[in-house]
Amino acid sequence: MKNYYFDNSATSSPKPEAVYKAVEIGLREYNANPGRAGHRKAVEAGRKIYEVREKIAKFFNVKNSLNIAFTANATESLNFAIKGGIPQNSHVITTNFEHNSVLRPLFYMQDEKNIKLTFVNTYDEIEKNITSETKAVVINHISNVNGTIQNIEEIGKICKKHNLLFILDASQSAGYSYIDMEKHNISILCLTGHKSLFGIQGIGAICLRDNVKIEPILEGGTGSFSKLSRQPKEMPELLEAGTINTPGVISLGAGIDFINEMGLDKIREHENRLTKRFIDGLKDIEKIKIYKSLTEEQGPVVSLNIDGVDSGDLAQILDEEFGIFVRPGFHCAPLAHKVIGTYETGTVRFSFGYFNTDEEIEFALSTLENIALQI
Ligand SMILES: Cc1ncc(COP(=O)(O)O)c(C=O)c1O
Repeated sequence: MKNYYFDNSATSSPKPEAVYKAVEIGLREYNANPGRAGHRKAVEAGRKIYEVREKIAKFFNVKNSLNIAFTANATESLNFAIKGGIPQNSHVITTNFEHNSVLRPLFYMQDEKNIKLTFVNTYDEIEKNITSETKAVVINHISNVNGTIQNIEEIGKICKKHNLLFILDASQSAGYSYIDMEKHNISILCLTGHKSLFGIQGIGAICLRDNVKIEPILEGGTGSFSKLSRQPKEMPELLEAGTINTPGVISLGAGIDFINEMGLDKIREHENRLTKRFIDGLKDIEKIKIYKSLTEEQGPVVSLNIDGVDSGDLAQILDEEFGIFVRPGFHCAPLAHKVIGTYETGTVRFSFGYFNTDEEIEFALSTLENIALQI
C-alpha cells in the first residue's frame, strides 16, 4: 500500500536527500566533541557548528551568530526563554493556541514565580490587554491545531512600542514563513529543527537579540571557562551546557541549505496551494466539519472531524485501510480546543509539507468523501 504522509506538523517526512547524507557525514567525518579539545577533528567539528550558526543567523537575520545557542528542540528553547527570560511577579500575554511546551512552563511560572497570565485568541487583542505590569508576550506563530497565523509584524510593533519581551514559538513557521529577528523585533526566537527546517529530531535553537538577558536553567560543562564555578555569562556557552548534537546541527544546516536552494517563497506557495485545494475540496463533503485559521492567513495545517466518528477511530481507518498518516486528538494544545469547540472530541489533523503532491491531496479528499458517505 502506498503511504500518504500528512503529519508534517509533528515532524517533516521525508527529509531532503542532502539531509540524510549530512547526518552520515556528521557522524563519520565530524565525530569529535566540538569545543572540548584542541585536536584537528574537534576543531573541524567546531568549525562545522560555527558554519551552521552563521546559516541560522543569515536565515532569520540574527545580528550576532554567537547569540544563537543549539538546544534539543523547541521545548528546551521555550523552557529557557520562559523560565530564564521572564521576570517573576510580572504579567504575560499569550494565546489560547499555545502548545504545552509554552503552556506548561508558563503555568509553572504562574504557580512558582507569581506571574499573571492573560490569554487571547489573536494578535489584534494583545495591545488592549497590556497593563503596567506586562513584561512579555509569548506567541505561537502558527497553530499546530488549525493553522492560525499570528501577525508577527504587528506583534513586533506593539512589543517595541510598549518595551515588552517578544518570545516567538516558531516551531510551525520556521521554514515556511519569512521571519526576521530585527524587522519583526523578536526578542527570543525559539526553533525546532525537525519540522519545516528539515533537520533531524533532537536539534533546536534559541536566538537572542543583543540586549536580551536570560538566566540559564541548565548548568554544566561548556568546554571553556572550566574553572568558573557557575555557568559562563557569554553566549552561546550560557545556554549550551553539555555536548552539542553535532550530527543534528549539521543536518539542520543541510535543511536550511535546501530551503535556500528551493526558495522559501516557492515552498510556502506550494504548501498554500495544497492547503487551499484541501479546504476547498472538504467544503463539498457533507458531514465534515473543518477547523481553519482564525486570522486572515492560513498555515498548512487543517483540522477536521466527521460527524459521529471518533477522531482516533478515523485516524486509524485512514492509516490501516488507506495508508494515510494523520494525527488525531488534542495535538498538545488543549486550550485551542476550547476555542474551536473540540475540547471533548479532539480533531483529526492534516498537515502538509513541501514533499506532498496534488495527487496526494486528491486521494485524501476522495477517501474522506467515501468514508463520510458510508457513515
Ligand atoms: C507550536 C509548537 N510548539 C512547540 C512544539 C514543540 O516542538 P518539539 O517537540 O520539537 O520541542 C511543537 C511540536 O509539535 C509545536 O507544534
